[in-house]
Amino acid sequence: MPKPRVLVTREIPAAGLDKVLAHCDAEVIRDPLPPSRATLLEKVRGCDGLLSLLTERIDAEVMDAAGPQLKVVSNFAVGFNNIDIAEATRRGIKVGNTPGVLTDATADIAFALLIAAARRIVESVDYARAKKWKTWEPLGHIGADLQNKTIGIVGMGRIGYAMAKRCRGGWDMNVLYYGRSRNEEAERNLGARLVDFETLLAESDFISVHTVMNDSTKHLFNADAFRKMKRSAIFINTARGGIVDESDLTAALRNGDIFAAGLDVTDPEPPAFDNPLLHLPNCVVAPHIGSATVSSRNGMAEIAADNLLAGLAGQPLRHCVNP
Ligand code: DGY
Repeated sequence: MPKPRVLVTREIPAAGLDKVLAHCDAEVIRDPLPPSRATLLEKVRGCDGLLSLLTERIDAEVMDAAGPQLKVVSNFAVGFNNIDIAEATRRGIKVGNTPGVLTDATADIAFALLIAAARRIVESVDYARAKKWKTWEPLGHIGADLQNKTIGIVGMGRIGYAMAKRCRGGWDMNVLYYGRSRNEEAERNLGARLVDFETLLAESDFISVHTVMNDSTKHLFNADAFRKMKRSAIFINTARGGIVDESDLTAALRNGDIFAAGLDVTDPEPPAFDNPLLHLPNCVVAPHIGSATVSSRNGMAEIAADNLLAGLAGQPLRHCVNP
């Protein structure tokens, strides 16, 4: 019996790739950069399965190019806003994602960005490297305290909870949260309080975004939202860049409407090099490294491979995002 044909759109850790290579007739795009649209459309032709990254837009055009035998799209990410889920579902194509294994790694980066922005770490390191450090400065490099402050979590799912746990457990913060679903565990264990968006904006010292990117969250953080935040507030986003209106964030940081920001995601990625967010002293930008640890990336690769193989075999996926 011939092996199923699959396309893997980038090299992923061997923990998953080896399984795919053992069971499938697989083409792996080994270029470190995302394939062009034309390459993706050409290479997906005739595939039964597709293992994609968040950098690939998987829509009706890609599904048409693949052909009617396409059974499964396995995304190497927990987020799946790059995939037209409704279209895949309509065609009976299963879509998988990789939740759980990157929760702590991503919450660690959210917290790292919070400390970096609060204590002006990147700005201070740049200062030392630029030979500006002449003496110990009683009035220099003064940042924000973290202890006993209020953290506002947007989206109290797995990663939001892990971030709130760090803030509550390590720094005794009060936890507010906003989102579609109530999280009773967070309320019980962390004393978290579900509030409306306006209250979260007004009462939080720090806001950390962990929600999905969709039509209702696109540009949720815009000029109006930044204006309603405290002038001392710090804004953290490790979810998806599109949740923020970047020109409004730039203005808020420049005007002092908020104190600082820490971003692991931008829209687009990478940002243009002249995007002011990369250069403002009160903004720390990392290149989407939330899940970049050995165990997270290996775990993601394993789940993505298992989802792909299960979908090819007509079995339930380990993590399926079709409604
Ligand atoms: C995801 O999985 O959605 C992250 O953004 C990248 O690991």
